[in-house]
Formats: sequence, structure tokens, C-alpha cells
Amino acid sequence: AKKAVLGPLVGAVDQGTSSTRFLVFNSKTAELLSHHQVEIKQEFPREGWVEQDPKEILQSVYECIEKTCEKLGQLNIDISNIKAIGVSNQRETTVVWDKLTGEPLYNAVAAPVSPGPSDPVAVVPSGSSVPAAGTSSVWLDLRTQSTVENLSKRIPGNNNFVKSLTGGANGGVHCTDVTNASRTMLFNIHSLEWDKELCEFFEIPMKILPNVRSSSEIYGLMKAGALEGVPISGCLGDQSAALVGQMCFQDGQAKNTYGTGCFLLCNTGRKCVFSEHGLLTTVAYKLGRDKPVYYALEGSVAIAGAVIRWLRDNLGIIQTSEEIEKLAKEVGTSYGCYFVPAFSGLYAPYWEPSARGIICGLTQFTNKCHIAFAALEAVCFQTREILDAMNRDCGIPLSHLQVDGGMTNNKILMQLQADILYIPVVKPSMPETTALGAAMAAGAAEGVGVWSLEPEDLSAVTMERFEPQINAEESEIRYSTWKKAVMKSVGWVT
Ligand code: G3P
Repeated sequence: AKKAVLGPLVGAVDQGTSSTRFLVFNSKTAELLSHHQVEIKQEFPREGWVEQDPKEILQSVYECIEKTCEKLGQLNIDISNIKAIGVSNQRETTVVWDKLTGEPLYNAVAAPVSPGPSDPVAVVPSGSSVPAAGTSSVWLDLRTQSTVENLSKRIPGNNNFVKSLTGGANGGVHCTDVTNASRTMLFNIHSLEWDKELCEFFEIPMKILPNVRSSSEIYGLMKAGALEGVPISGCLGDQSAALVGQMCFQDGQAKNTYGTGCFLLCNTGRKCVFSEHGLLTTVAYKLGRDKPVYYALEGSVAIAGAVIRWLRDNLGIIQTSEEIEKLAKEVGTSYGCYFVPAFSGLYAPYWEPSARGIICGLTQFTNKCHIAFAALEAVCFQTREILDAMNRDCGIPLSHLQVDGGMTNNKILMQLQADILYIPVVKPSMPETTALGAAMAAGAAEGVGVWSLEPEDLSAVTMERFEPQINAEESEIRYSTWKKAVMKSVGWVT
């Protein structure tokens, strides 16, 4: 049968911490036409260590692309309509590979998210001194904590030296974009170049680092597979991609993405705003070689979706992540149980590496449903913490919160979030905003030009709004009890 032609399509790879996805959108409406997802293993070789196999990551990308193309074929959609591909990825996670053989030297580990309120200090990716290009621990990895502490002792007299510069990445093209580079602690977010002084400080040879390009330009072409020859023309760290996918192009517009962690980014326009409340300054996007760079303030929560995965894989109280909603719905309350999932310490606004997870307020009445509910509440309380910090830094409180990510399909979570923030929560009908942002950047690139970045090109995305349903006093009481629980999680590791 003749395959239907829909107009230009754009694909996006979303390589996240928990899974890899490939999604294909119609560039005239943002309708999601097909996708495929593969879960990624995480290895925990020791307490505090988190690793991933770079070859598994790469293989998962190929698999997702091929399977999505097959599904499009079954839908009678001609894959030759795919005009560009964007890439978004988990940030900070680093891999070093041999530039001659392309073989990774070790599993993926992290160049961490670790800005203290006074000065962010990077964790040097393990193996980074090897003469190869690109490095890896997953961003949740804690092994380099002592390296961070030692490096922080070497920070010169002006202890904002690192923060002021950084605000807080074969056989083909070796490049990254400004948003990913800005997460390495080696990149000067003002000059948009690898910084010689920082590289010397962290003892990273500059020659192993990739070329830094804008987030929207043709980097190269697909070398093999069903999409051979299609340009790769969008590249953004996943949180920046979601900011673009939510069309947060104006100063003061913000989004919160619920993935493995939770990341709230607020566009601060052309200026770098430095936080007084534990947030990071990061590059938001630069959508074209000759386009200006935009910055964002970021509040990072380490554990969001990861707590649901933990309930599934470690406690076994659910078989699939979706079951969490059913359990929580059965009780509709945590019955005074609070769950602080500080598995990797606490991120913003505390930046407290000594914290570890706790479940408190248990009684004989507490059951797995209450714990499930408390886990969802924990995601919401953590978001409240970073929203409060954002409001304090920006001066103008957010009137509503734009949200996205797989977890936003959970209606209980969304209602809880509105109740705990005490502002409306607005979610798009299609929660894959990260992939959408990468596709938009790819489709808008010079030489591709199939996406306009105007709201009318997102007509397939409708919005759902959740209003607070409890009273303000109850919301505050629950939040202050959460804060008490947080204090109990601190100091478990010395
Ligand atoms: O900074 C880490 C972040 O990019 C990971 O995002 O969606 O995999 O939790 P996600």
C-alpha cells in the first residue's frame, strides 16, 4: 500500500538515566506519531556508586531507532519524511573512550551536579586523565565525594572562582553543545569555551574534550541503519531540552521535569543569575550558531522517579511503576508517614552529602499503600523546596508550575503537587517534552528549517490544569512536617 505523507517529521533520541527512547513528531503539529523505549540497567558495584554500560546505552539508541521505524512502517508512514534528528541526554554522566578504537575504557560514571551554596565543586570523572575522549559515572554516583572535598581545599582565596565561571562532555564528529558543556565544571559559561584555568585546576587535558557547538545546527549525518543520511541537528542536555519543549523562551518562564530526578529550570534570559539559595546557574540553550545564548537557574532533586523504581526493584511492593498510583489511591493519605529518599544525599537547596533515605512516622497501621503515597508526596515536597528557593532568587513567585516527564501521567501525583505548592500545576497532554524540545531544536536548525518554534506548531499539545484542593493551612502543616523529616535524614554518613 502507498504510504501516507504527513509533511516533515523529526525524530528525537531521549537518552535518560532510566531509559532510552526514540520518538518521531510531526513538525507542523508536534503530534507524537510513534516511539520506542528501552529500560537501561544501572549497576551499583558499591554503596554510593552508580554505573552504566556505555555499550548498552549506545545499543539501546540503535534499537529504539530501528523499532520506531518499524512501527512507523506498520502505521503506513514513510520514514523518508524524517528530515532531522535531535538528541537529548542525561547530563553530567561521563564516559572516557579510546579515540583510536572507540572502545570505552570504563563504565559511565559522573561529573557531578554538586554546587554548594558558596561554591560548586566538580567531581572529576574517573579515568579522565586517560588520553581519550569523553568520560563516565552516572550522575547519581557518590564515589568522588572525597575528590570534591580535596579539590575544594585547593580553591583559591576567592572561593567563588569555580562558581563564577561555570555556574555550578568517533570515528566521526566529536562534539557536544553548550548546555551539556556547561554541566562539566570545565566550561566557562560567559565566554562559551572550555576554560584553561578550570581544566588545569581539575587536571583535565583540554585535548580530550569535545568541540562545543550550539544546540541547533547540523553536526553530522546518521551513518547507518534505517535513518542513514538523516542529519543530526539538535543537541541539548535533557533539562534544557524540556525547557525548549515547554516553550519557556521568556525571562521568568519555568518548567519542572519529573524523570529519575526532578529538575526545575527558570529562564533568566541573556543574563547569568547567581543563586543565594542553593540553585545552579546553567546554560539554557543557544538555538543556532549565530543565535544568542540564554541562561537558566536550576533547582535539582536527585530522587523522583528513582524512588518508584526503588519500591519496584528493591522492596518489590509494585511490579510496574504505574502500579504506584493504584496503591496510593487505595488510601489517599500517607497516614503520617514521611519518606525522605535521600539515597544520594540531598541536592538543592540543601546540598547535603551526609543525608541518607529515611521513612518515619510509622505505626502498626502503616502499610505499603501509605508508603507508596509517602513516596509520591516526597517528590512533591522536594519540588516545593526548589520552587521556594527559585521564588526567593527570582523575587517574583511563580503563579503556576509547568510540568512534564513520564511521572506526570500520574494524576494523584499531579493533584498532590498542586496541593503542596498551593499554585496550579499545568501539564501537557503529551508528557515527552524533553524529546519534543530536542526535535524542535533539530527541526529548526539552519539547513533543515522544518520547525518554526512558534506556538502554532504545537497544536497537538493540549494542557491539563490541576488546582489546589486542600486549604493553605493544611498544605503548610504537611510541608513543615516534611522539613522535620528532612532534618532527621541529615548526618547519617560522616
Ligand atoms: O542532571 C541529570 C539529569 O540530566 C538527569 O535527568 O531525566 O535522566 O532524571 P533524568
